[in-house]
Amino acid sequence: MFRVCILAWSLLSTFVMLNSSDILIESFNQAGQGQVFQFFDELDAATQTKLVAQAETIDLAEVEGLVDEHVKGSQHQTLNLDGLEPAPYEALAANGGDSAQWSAAKDAGSAALRAGRVAAFTVAGGQGTRLGYDGPKGTYPVTPVTGKTLFQVFAEKIARSGERYGVTIPWFILTSEINNDATVAEFEAADFFGLSRESVHFIVQGLVPAVDNEGKILLAEKGKIAMTPDGHGGSLRALVRSGAVDAMKAQGIDIVSYFQVDNPIVQCIDPAFIGFHVLGQSELSSKMVPKAYALEKVGHFCVQNGSALVVEYSDMPDEMQEETKACGGIRFNGGSVAIHIFDRDFITRAGGSGQGSKLPFHRADKKIPHVNTTGEMIQPDAPNGVKFEMFVFDALPLAKNPVIIEAARADDFSPVKNAEGVDSPQSSKEDQLRMFARWLKAAGEDIQTDDSGLPMIKFEISPRFAVDEADFVAQWVTLDPKTEIKDGAVIQ
Ligand code: UTP
Repeated sequence: MFRVCILAWSLLSTFVMLNSSDILIESFNQAGQGQVFQFFDELDAATQTKLVAQAETIDLAEVEGLVDEHVKGSQHQTLNLDGLEPAPYEALAANGGDSAQWSAAKDAGSAALRAGRVAAFTVAGGQGTRLGYDGPKGTYPVTPVTGKTLFQVFAEKIARSGERYGVTIPWFILTSEINNDATVAEFEAADFFGLSRESVHFIVQGLVPAVDNEGKILLAEKGKIAMTPDGHGGSLRALVRSGAVDAMKAQGIDIVSYFQVDNPIVQCIDPAFIGFHVLGQSELSSKMVPKAYALEKVGHFCVQNGSALVVEYSDMPDEMQEETKACGGIRFNGGSVAIHIFDRDFITRAGGSGQGSKLPFHRADKKIPHVNTTGEMIQPDAPNGVKFEMFVFDALPLAKNPVIIEAARADDFSPVKNAEGVDSPQSSKEDQLRMFARWLKAAGEDIQTDDSGLPMIKFEISPRFAVDEADFVAQWVTLDPKTEIKDGAVIQ
């Protein structure tokens, strides 16, 4: 009797399994995406199960909408530039801003930090293709002497900031299915860089299928769909879907300090920035840096019809980017450097629920390796398909009371994007060295530099020692004995 029951149960489970995958396959057929299962019968059972599981994560209605809008529809929607103006911003005190306001903001931000209202949030789900590094970008070594990884630098900055304000600052890290396991393994191996495990939260962002130029979902392998992360804008819906915003609420966190994984000099926790956000009752605050030159490839902070927005350089004609003000200087000067502060409830709103995110998707034409209909592996040498991504700055027009403050590029932005040249490991190391030299000079030390401020020797200031110039000066004064500043020195 017992055996009969087991047999009946296993037949029933097989039937239910087959049935549910049959229904799924049929839904792909109905949506005109049946090619996803073209090689299904050739696959072994384990690969079939994986393909079905992957296909189940795809929102076919969303894909259909994206294909209609971005692949079959007009390929490049030009932005309406009518009435576009540069966005107002709070200038640095050194550049004519109100120093009393900066000091009030610093106080307000420090109070919010001491009250435990702030979390750090790093978006690290990207693929980092330009750098060409095989692994999560956060595990890339970046500091000039000890070669600390990006994750270690941020971990130490967050730990030091927590120490300054007497709190443990929770750290949320966005990964994707492609790099999550390797990211978590790195943290495990490094014993979470000295942070408590409970304070670090990994959030896996969503993936969207890549399609060919006819809108057909591509296969990376016969049993695997070509999927890519849904962009840094996907971070908002990932925070909502993963329950992270609920966890923040339960912990009394309502201020989320957002930065990218590729920028080692970013001030992960900046009290003045937090303070401007709090005092402005802002839902989304942003740092701008003055553009280095008129055609620099950055987004521009603008306003249009009373709404703040970021206009990508590719959407703004060169003549407009080169316009100058009557008093001199570039008119559209506010460059976006992807450093933001989010209000937690705004994340819930912009990250969407039920209907999904309210941020639009953008189209990116890419080279997508894939298996063609005859089962051949294709490695394209020109863009052959489309990926879909959301951009986090598209949340700006949705936010109430957006605040934009000026940041000094040298204190906040030197990303590692490319293997060489601009925004490369080399340029970022040099910017770190210049920053360390400035801090030492501010503390009264004599250090030789070239005209660009680059010191003649390589040395490093550990983020566990100090996270900004004021912190460094205060720490250095009390350091006894002082570290000898020579080639290879590490102040820690
Ligand atoms: P980038 O636009 O530089 O993209 O991401 P990327 O994928 O890292 O690098 P390339 O273009 O392939 O060379 C800016 C930031 O947004 C994160 C990245 O990890 C980086 O911190 N990001 C990007 C995500 O978290 N998810 C994404 O889907 C895309």
